[in-house]
Amino acid sequence: MNLEIIITEDGSSSIINKDINECYHSTSGAINESEHIYIENGLLACEKKEINTLEIGFGTGLNALLTQIICDKNKINNNYHSIENLQISTTKYLALNYCKQLNIKNDNFIKMHSSSWGEKITISKYFSLLKINIDLQTFHPTIKYDLIYFDAFSPKKQPELWTYDIFKKLYNNLNKNGVLVTYCAKGAFKRILKKVGFEVFSLKGPIGKREITQAIKR
Ligand SMILES: C[S@@+](CC[C@H](N)C(=O)[O-])C[C@H]1O[C@@H](n2cnc3c(N)ncnc32)[C@H](O)[C@@H]1O
Repeated sequence: MNLEIIITEDGSSSIINKDINECYHSTSGAINESEHIYIENGLLACEKKEINTLEIGFGTGLNALLTQIICDKNKINNNYHSIENLQISTTKYLALNYCKQLNIKNDNFIKMHSSSWGEKITISKYFSLLKINIDLQTFHPTIKYDLIYFDAFSPKKQPELWTYDIFKKLYNNLNKNGVLVTYCAKGAFKRILKKVGFEVFSLKGPIGKREITQAIKR
């Protein structure tokens, strides 16, 4: 595994997986991208005060950190599950500059990364985290979710994850009015979402990206 830390255009760090030459975030800005896609068009679009969230790809932990901050601020109880099949090392997560960029203490971020896989832990008053070390293809959810952050690598690099069967599985494990949000805006992908049963919205993307996709289970 060949992972390299980079600094994106908004000053926040990200990681490039050199084996597949794919960045964990937009090089136009990792924090900017994550806030726009997953917080503004995912978490806040959910309009609920009790949320079960599923993240596909824990990675740097940036989505989890930003979600915890907003949940605490807005008093949203979030039971956050995140699956990942490639964990980053302690050296790598300690080198990520998110807490510095956000001007916050790093204790919650460290707790998120150092917590055991498969063990639910309380991070703050409104946010608990369960990291699950599994491949999405063999993951079988045991609860229903209100919100899904689909943040795997791109369809070009991981076509096996962007299939009808995967999204049908996720759809079946979403509650009514549940929201799935992702950076991908490819036509073929949106057609799969529609076929599965989602109502699909193409929304304005963050800096450096024209569109993103939000899908709702009616
Ligand atoms: C685009 S990165 C985003 C990571 C994370 N959300 C973040 O903000 O850093 C994609 C993540 O999905 C993980 N991943 C890739 N394939 C996976 C699979 N089949 N099952 C679970 N996780 C996977 C990668 O290891 C990587 O951490």
